[in-house]
Amino acid sequence: MAERILITGGAGFIGSALGLHLKGLGHELAVIDNLSFGARHLAPVPDEHFHRIDIRDGAAVAGVIADFRPTQVLHLAAIHFIPYCNAHPAEAADINITGTMRVLDACAAAPSVRQVFVASTAAVYPIADGPIAEGHALGPIDIYGITKLATERLASEFNLRTGKPAIIGRFFNAFGPNETNPHLIPEIQRQVLAGERTLRLGNLEPKRDFIHTADMAAAMESLLRAVVTGCEVFNIGRGIEYSVRDIVAAFERQLGEPLRIEVDPARVRKVERMHLLADVAKLKRATGWEPRWTIDEGVATLLREQPLEWSAQLA
Ligand SMILES: NC(=O)c1ccc[n+]([C@@H]2O[C@H](COP(=O)([O-])OP(=O)(O)OC[C@H]3O[C@@H](n4cnc5c(N)ncnc54)[C@H](O)[C@@H]3O)[C@@H](O)[C@H]2O)c1
Repeated sequence: MAERILITGGAGFIGSALGLHLKGLGHELAVIDNLSFGARHLAPVPDEHFHRIDIRDGAAVAGVIADFRPTQVLHLAAIHFIPYCNAHPAEAADINITGTMRVLDACAAAPSVRQVFVASTAAVYPIADGPIAEGHALGPIDIYGITKLATERLASEFNLRTGKPAIIGRFFNAFGPNETNPHLIPEIQRQVLAGERTLRLGNLEPKRDFIHTADMAAAMESLLRAVVTGCEVFNIGRGIEYSVRDIVAAFERQLGEPLRIEVDPARVRKVERMHLLADVAKLKRATGWEPRWTIDEGVATLLREQPLEWSAQLA
């Protein structure tokens, strides 16, 4: 059944893939995004349903919700590039924590909203080897993870206070078109499309669970339809770990050319997790969702398009 769905951060990397997926299923969408990192053209909504406002402006958020009357709200707006969060911890806390309070308060007050989805991250887990399930101990190692753990606690408190279901999605590493932050895969994409065949990258050994944004969008949509009663946490990942070398090898296969790697000391992170792998059994059990995109299929599409310009804030 078509629903009215509001996405915060819907002009961003994951939010725009989510919007396209929901629109394709016939849902009516509205987007809130201040365009600090996202881009207007990525949000697949007409101007009357695009609201360039800051999520910390509670009255403005409440106004959008009162006018649009969404039944579901997916809250993805956040500051999440880890080096940016480390350099601007107070801003990251203000947007990710205070901003989330404002969005949830507006949802609490709006009779139309029957359920919320809140984007969290694998960064709430401590450094660990092997697949991580939702019941694993928590222990963020950076400011970003700390702010997102607070986001999760706020979602739980929202559920207790209002009785409305709250779904928390712990996203692992997204990849796909229109990435807004200079993470590993768009960085390789940028260098390869600029003609480089010797890539300058940071740490090569860490492994990450890369999931395509189209698969993430499908996972989120399937969770909106699952019957959640309280506050439930779900990992959203592919369930496969890839090292930086594995990703470069996928680019080599799609290019049909060898790539050399030079370690750029400026890109090497001081604190680094060696592994980050999702156990996605709970998500699959609850929804029947299965990922469809392989790393090679995703990389092939990235070689056919230019990456976005990064936000001026990252300069
Ligand atoms: N990309 C990943 O691999 C990844 C991994 C784990 C979790 N996440 C989470 O997923 C969500 C979406 O991330 P993304 O990768 O699409 O990043 P993104 O930066 O592309 O999207 C976030 C969007 O929020 C908007 N925004 C930022 N601050 C805002 C504010 N104060 N008011 C209104 N809008 C604001 C930005 O303009 C941007 O469009 C975030 O909550 C992020 O923490 C992402």
